[in-house]
Amino acid sequence: MSHARLVDRYRRVHRDLRVSLTDRCSLRCTYCMPADGVPWLKSATLLSTDELVRLTRVAVDLGVREVRLTGGEPLLRPDVVDVVGELAAIETPDGPLDLSLTTNALRLPALAAPLRDAGLNRVNVSLDTLQRARFMELTRRDRLADTLAGIEAARAVGFSPVKLNALIMRGVNDDEIVDLVDFAVERGLQMRFIEHMPLDGGHTWRREEMVTAEEILAAVTERYTLEPLGHDGTAPAERFRIVGTEATVGVIASVTRKFCDRCDRVRLTADGQFRNCLFAHEESDLRTLLREGADDARLAEAMVACVARKLPGHGIDDPSFVQPSRPMSAIGG
Ligand code: 5AD
Ligand code: SF4
Repeated sequence: MSHARLVDRYRRVHRDLRVSLTDRCSLRCTYCMPADGVPWLKSATLLSTDELVRLTRVAVDLGVREVRLTGGEPLLRPDVVDVVGELAAIETPDGPLDLSLTTNALRLPALAAPLRDAGLNRVNVSLDTLQRARFMELTRRDRLADTLAGIEAARAVGFSPVKLNALIMRGVNDDEIVDLVDFAVERGLQMRFIEHMPLDGGHTWRREEMVTAEEILAAVTERYTLEPLGHDGTAPAERFRIVGTEATVGVIASVTRKFCDRCDRVRLTADGQFRNCLFAHEESDLRTLLREGADDARLAEAMVACVARKLPGHGIDDPSFVQPSRPMSAIGG
């Protein structure tokens, strides 16, 4: 059965599943976690690999064609290469699943080649600064060299494209926009800038402090000429060709140019909760269903029902906006 069934009240068809492999992380980015981390999910609640592969298969039967592995830091999951191998083997009516991963790259020097061999298609690396002292301040770990080595490893084993994601924050790294683009252009990587969203464990987000996509693009155009390419399908990034190069740069304007009306994403947390939005306040507890012996049809029904309740948008700009209680690290980026 291959026709799409994850369709919501606004006729959005959901084809992209984000699967969080763990809520743990090897960094402590200030915008994501307090210094001591967040209360971790209990290990008995974490999905086994068989469980998460089964749920992914059910989602594929409902029309999912793309899976992105996230965290926390997904490469901290000890059997991540096996997870990739099993997911890569899932056939869809349109061919193999499109499998990608978002990572801080620290473990890529060791894992890039095995991940590629296991069937991973693409990687996105989070890189907010190229300055060692600033990286330390921002992530509370002195690991910039490891991140850069991880990016190099991703490139060396032939992942293409390698995208770099930077979250730009006022007074923190907004003076590095052009440096980050230079870094990416020189290496044939694709730079993406992300607007800061209210998702941090420490609840420190302020709308007025957010650096907007418009400001980011203005900074880039001080150095480069940009030619608009629009969006790639349902992808959230607005892309631009950097004139005179092969490179593109993108902005993900989740707040100021929100793309909820073409959202095609659903999420599965590491503890088996199905979410219809990053900002959702409700979750569908697939783990309990699964462990109580539900069959695939029952699991599918729960996913369909969860998508049917999806709200039109994140509501960040509404006065009544309330941040989800789960931190980003436990939802999956
Ligand atoms: N707003 C936007 N992006 C965020 N990320 C983490 N927290 C936020 C936030 N509050 C991004 C990281 C990383 C990806 C996993 O999610 O920068 O690139
Ligand atoms: Fe880890 Fe990503 Fe959160 Fe940074 S943003 S602490 S890399 S999960």
